[in-house]
Amino acid sequence: VSLAPFSARLLTWFDVHGRHDLPWQHPRTPYRVWVSEVMLQQTQVATVIDYFNRFMERFPRLEDLAAASIDEVLALWSGLGYYARARNLHAAARVMAQQGIPETLAHWLALPGVGSSTAAAIMAQAFDEPATILDGNVKRVIARHAGIDTPIEQSATVQALYQVAKEYTPDARFADYTQAIMDLGATCCTRTQPECGRCPVAEDCVARQTDRVDALPARRRR
Ligand code: ADE
Repeated sequence: VSLAPFSARLLTWFDVHGRHDLPWQHPRTPYRVWVSEVMLQQTQVATVIDYFNRFMERFPRLEDLAAASIDEVLALWSGLGYYARARNLHAAARVMAQQGIPETLAHWLALPGVGSSTAAAIMAQAFDEPATILDGNVKRVIARHAGIDTPIEQSATVQALYQVAKEYTPDARFADYTQAIMDLGATCCTRTQPECGRCPVAEDCVARQTDRVDALPARRRR
């Protein structure tokens, strides 16, 4: 008996159990996905939703954000924390208002406040391009499923996780797939008390097979 690929099982799960009603998914424009991903850098989805909706009410288009004062942007950001994100967002909006919204990974990376994970998330979600995301949730899913047991603080571990994450990526449905693996990490393959009984990729999960779900991802011993 052979299993369907990781991505096929995950996508089937996502169609039923994934999050399809996040405000930045409707409509899913590059501007809205960018704002949401910057908000999501250090903040959980549940917290971001209200801030995102208020932000879009006041700044429905990139031009509205670019024309606003930094004080007004900071006022809407108030409570989200990590205010450098708001300053970078505002600065990037002014660049984009002049130069247009980027359409490649490299151009997104050149903007203030957009790192590799955010740029990859934008390319996948807004442009449906293949891009490998390795945020905390994805690292945990991959470390467990592939049984990568070296400390996640080490760059060699991150490289190994990145390789596996790339191998697991399907050749279509990139936007759905990246949302699916983040959703699996957020709702099923959680850090504590994961629900392996509901997981679509538990059957060949190395951590589960070797009874190390709670031990992975491994942390540096201290
Ligand atoms: N964290 C970063 N980006 C995210 C997204 N699109 N959905 C859920 N969590 C995220």
